[in-house]
Amino acid sequence: MTALRLLLASALACALHAPACHAACVEVDSDTEAVAGKGFKLGCISCKMRLEVPATATVDWYFKARDESDFTQIYSYVYQNEMVTDDRFWARLHWNGSKRTSDLQDGSIYILNVTFNDTGVYRCYFDRTLNFGNYEYRANATKFITLNVVAKATRGTASILSEVMMYVSIIGLQVWLVVEMVYCYRKISVAGEEALRESAAEYLAIASESKDNCAGVQVAE
Ligand SMILES: *[C@@H]1O[C@H](CO)[C@@H](O)[C@H](O)[C@H]1NC(C)=O
Ligand SMILES: *[C@@H]1O[C@H](CO)[C@@H](O)[C@H](O)[C@H]1NC(C)=O
Ligand SMILES: *[C@@H]1O[C@H](CO)[C@@H](O)[C@H](O)[C@H]1NC(C)=O
Ligand SMILES: *[C@@H]1O[C@H](CO)[C@@H](O)[C@H](O)[C@H]1NC(C)=O
Repeated sequence: MTALRLLLASALACALHAPACHAACVEVDSDTEAVAGKGFKLGCISCKMRLEVPATATVDWYFKARDESDFTQIYSYVYQNEMVTDDRFWARLHWNGSKRTSDLQDGSIYILNVTFNDTGVYRCYFDRTLNFGNYEYRANATKFITLNVVAKATRGTASILSEVMMYVSIIGLQVWLVVEMVYCYRKISVAGEEALRESAAEYLAIASESKDNCAGVQVAE
């Protein structure tokens, strides 16, 4: 679902600003349901307000387990250097964000072998320095993701409902199309018959008129 949304959003961004297509940044919400034993991408995107201004950013991640009241830092990323700072996540977190640049806009990380103990709230923190040439401007952004760990992937009712609605609307539209075609065909054939009758009458009228004309011409000769 998220991938599709991202694709649609970036396609839209491309359509709206074709030249800046490659630079388009869209803040997509992270998925919030992980499956125990599998990997999971904690998404966190913070777009620069002004894409043309060069910047550098660092990203820190914090975690608050279900039974905890405070956040603890679990991870930090500074251009090409990642550091896991919590034993619970030792060797399980990997950078999934912007690559080959210190101008980070995607600060996503990947959790390997998710356990039920990973359930809780994650905080993603961007610390960005915008470089305007003669001065620098510091900005920060924070996002929260509430992660739920399940034994098996469940599909949200919204997703199932939207799929059902899609089929209903496709079938509905096709039925409507067929009804409309039959209706139009009938209307056209009725109109056609009438037109035929009318034109036959007209033809006869013209034919008789032109006979008179012809007679006139012949007389003139
Ligand atoms: C994750 O799980 C796989 C298979 O279950 C195991 O081989 C791997 O060592 C685990 N990795 C970590 C970091 O625990
Ligand atoms: C995220 O990281 C995982 C593990 O390092 C990797 O398998 C996956 O391909 C990465 N995905 C992206 C989009 O970078
Ligand atoms: C989850 O947490 C409990 C209690 O802190 C601990 O006993 C257990 O080993 C943890 N499980 C994993 C898979 O880390
Ligand atoms: C984040 O930015 C706000 C202003 O937008 C500022 O008040 C706050 O101190 C900053 N936080 C940090 C930790 O620098």
